[in-house]
Amino acid sequence: MAKPKKRFICTECGSVSHRWQGQCSDCSEWNTLVEEAPETKFSAKHDLSTGGKPIMFESLDSPTKPLQRQTTGLAEFDRALGGGIVPGSAILMGGEPGIGKSTLLLQAAAAIARGGGDAVYVSGEEATGQVRMRAGRLGLADAPIRLAAATSVRDILTTLADGAPPALLVIDSIQTMHSDMIEGAPGTVSQVRASAFELIRYAKENGVALVLVGHVTKDGNIAGPRVLEHMVDVVMSFEGERSHQYRILRALKNRFGAVDEIGVFAMEGHGLAEVSNPSMLFLSGREEPMAGSSVFPAMEGTRPVLVEIQALIVRLQSGATPRRSVVGWETSRLAMLLAVLESRCGLNFSSAEVYLNVAGGYRLSDPAADLAVAAALVSALADKPLPLNSIWFGEVSLSAEIRPVAHTGLRLKEAGKLGFNSASGPADNGQSVEGLRYTGLSGLMALVDRVMASA
Ligand code: TYD
Ligand code: MG
Repeated sequence: MAKPKKRFICTECGSVSHRWQGQCSDCSEWNTLVEEAPETKFSAKHDLSTGGKPIMFESLDSPTKPLQRQTTGLAEFDRALGGGIVPGSAILMGGEPGIGKSTLLLQAAAAIARGGGDAVYVSGEEATGQVRMRAGRLGLADAPIRLAAATSVRDILTTLADGAPPALLVIDSIQTMHSDMIEGAPGTVSQVRASAFELIRYAKENGVALVLVGHVTKDGNIAGPRVLEHMVDVVMSFEGERSHQYRILRALKNRFGAVDEIGVFAMEGHGLAEVSNPSMLFLSGREEPMAGSSVFPAMEGTRPVLVEIQALIVRLQSGATPRRSVVGWETSRLAMLLAVLESRCGLNFSSAEVYLNVAGGYRLSDPAADLAVAAALVSALADKPLPLNSIWFGEVSLSAEIRPVAHTGLRLKEAGKLGFNSASGPADNGQSVEGLRYTGLSGLMALVDRVMASA
């Protein structure tokens, strides 16, 4: 028999190659290829066109059962899921270690159990004593969850097969699970995939809502959740800065709902608290007008969230290369904006260090943030505070124009609700909200003039 060929699998995207490379040719990540045992189970020569069972075809308008959804007991979690958890679906919950995935899922499992549902929580990372201690701290010790510490998928499924299937099955985490159908240590791509496959099959066949926790790490030693993304129905990401309190739960893929809704939580002493008015959280502590601070009405799905953007400019005496440091926004976007401000508006940032920070550890992805960032930068450079009750939004083009953006009405309404009285944005906007003075800016030069003119 020919010696099986070596194969290398990318721990980020799961793509297979037959020689080692520093960079994955599919997802372009670096140092993510690891050698794994070759697949020997299936013979390529096997003829698949005979011996199968006939499959039934249906038309698109065949009757379907309406989607049932079950509440997780956490309104913010339900919102991010698109209205609750769907029985028989598989959810992958990704996030960095320590961000709060276990806490969130323990809280959801407890809420379901208290509501009369059967919730099973299997921890492969912590002993049951540790989970119980956390539950005690969260005030959930009395919730009738079925808790176990296990890592063998066979043990888990054998146990569950003996009895009625649970409403919710949490596996924390998929990287600690082990399937004896396949060789290799837990955490390798093939183990993670095989374990997930078995668990998902069980969930689908028994109408169980399955949540797989998947740690996201950069070191490439364990398989990232991306290798599972195509196998599950919903991919969620739990994000935030560990040093900050707030956490955002986001759906990156959802076969049952929109992917742009978010849930907002704050990590407190007694676990995750739901934040139904996120703007309040991100804007807290703004009392005095300060140069370099602007407020941006960001859109998260259909939900506006007001966030503060802070810029600091430090003039350098020596000829050292000035730093550009960004937290919560794209570095390349800042570079573009600085270039436009320099070349089109005549401002000089070249001998200054630029620090940009989105307050509260919030991460901006809305393109309409350009104008708010520009306003913070110009305000910092000129050392002129912007009016405290103003918001800024609009996309900036390379020619320094301010482009219209989506959801203007929602952005203005949220600002009005929170007591803001002036807004600056794209010129051809056409929306107005009572109590809010709107200034259309034709271009970045108009912004500079406006900032320079402010008190
Ligand atoms: P955890 O849920 O264990 O994170 P993950 O499962 O994503 O690795 O949460 C870990 C952090 O959350 C831990 O560093 C402490 C903090 N925490 C609180 O601040 N308050 C709490 O009530 C709990 C349970 C955790
Ligand atoms: Mg955990």
